[in-house]
Amino acid sequence: MNIVLGICGSIAAYKSATLVRLLVKAGANVKVVMTTDATNFITPLTLSTLSKNPVLVDYFIPETGEWNNHVELGLWADIMLIAPASANTLAKMANGLCDNLLMGVYLSAKCPVYFAPAMDLDMWKHTATQENIDKLQSFGNVLIPPGSGELASGLHGEGRMAEPEEIIAFLSAEIKKKLPLADKKVLVTAGPTYEAIDPVRFIGNHSSGKMGFAIADELAKLGADVTLIAGPSAQISKQLAVKRINVTSAAEMLDACLQNFEGSQVCVMSAAVADYTPVTIAQQKIKKQDADFSIDLKKTTDILSKLGSQKKAGQILVGFALETDNEEINAIDKLQRKNLDFIVLNSLNDEGAGFKKDTNKITIIDRDLQKTAYPVKSKDEVALDICNKIIALLNK
Ligand code: CTP
Repeated sequence: MNIVLGICGSIAAYKSATLVRLLVKAGANVKVVMTTDATNFITPLTLSTLSKNPVLVDYFIPETGEWNNHVELGLWADIMLIAPASANTLAKMANGLCDNLLMGVYLSAKCPVYFAPAMDLDMWKHTATQENIDKLQSFGNVLIPPGSGELASGLHGEGRMAEPEEIIAFLSAEIKKKLPLADKKVLVTAGPTYEAIDPVRFIGNHSSGKMGFAIADELAKLGADVTLIAGPSAQISKQLAVKRINVTSAAEMLDACLQNFEGSQVCVMSAAVADYTPVTIAQQKIKKQDADFSIDLKKTTDILSKLGSQKKAGQILVGFALETDNEEINAIDKLQRKNLDFIVLNSLNDEGAGFKKDTNKITIIDRDLQKTAYPVKSKDEVALDICNKIIALLNK
């Protein structure tokens, strides 16, 4: 996300270094615009070092005869944050004054504007300031309220700029609210299952879990509340918000899915679940004998079919089909038999698709039998394609 940080002349400007640091750490591209007064409180060098971008103060660059294009900067920004916002700048913003670069950028910005005021308590309480804030909010600008406490003047009261951590939390919550999957509870399964034969052996498969973990990460990035039920896998979620439940066997995965299915608006079942499991698990390690050896297997419950039979109106159920032959016919059969909203087909015959790879090649087939074939992409990109299909269905 591109963020223009406007800094005004206030002692709270010393906190801007931490603010820039936290924004950059959160993954934002930050460009700083300062008023001349702000440069008395913190140096542009500090902020350019932390933001890794030149800091802009003036319209004109006398050395080169160029000017800083406020319109371009205003358009570049996904968010403009003015912190600290002084009483003077708030008054200018409320009245459309444009006597410095920061105001030029503000008036040119088409993105949401957030402002975190910082001033002495009487300035904050003044009717003029409060009227300016009302006016700015009526323009759609968003106030990040100041805190209360000891002020630089030595007085105690309201007017202290929100702490950088609070500003980040405020912005994160605002951004999350606007994401396409905000407030959506989502269930994802990933990885293989291991079916125990004895205390040291199991029946498993080559699934790495990469695809399912990528889907869980992408859903979380889009604002969803994600529960990931993972079979044995070395993968780690990149998104800290993903809630991971580790399971081993198909039976454990079934239990975890049933416990989390109700209340989930979307379920993406990408796990490679064992279709058969040993009838009995030997309590002790099975010793080698001269004769050949066989294991009796019984069917596991098809989790996807079970969820499909319990699906309520409004719930979206997505399944996977990894096929080696008759790909589309088999996938459509699974889509209909398991009551899915769409199925993600990948064929082991396609180069770039399959277990353990970092890429995949998928075809999405939906209930209307609409087929969309995608080229080979990274699993992260494939995950985004799947999420976009989910968003389209939710908005239908
Ligand atoms: N699946 C499941 N529970 C099972 C088996 C499969 O939830 N016990 C799910 C997988 O997570 C996947 C889909 O069903 O989303 C398709 O799995 P697949 O093994 O290809 O399908 P099967 O119905 O088992 O058919 P077959 O093995 O005959 O191809």
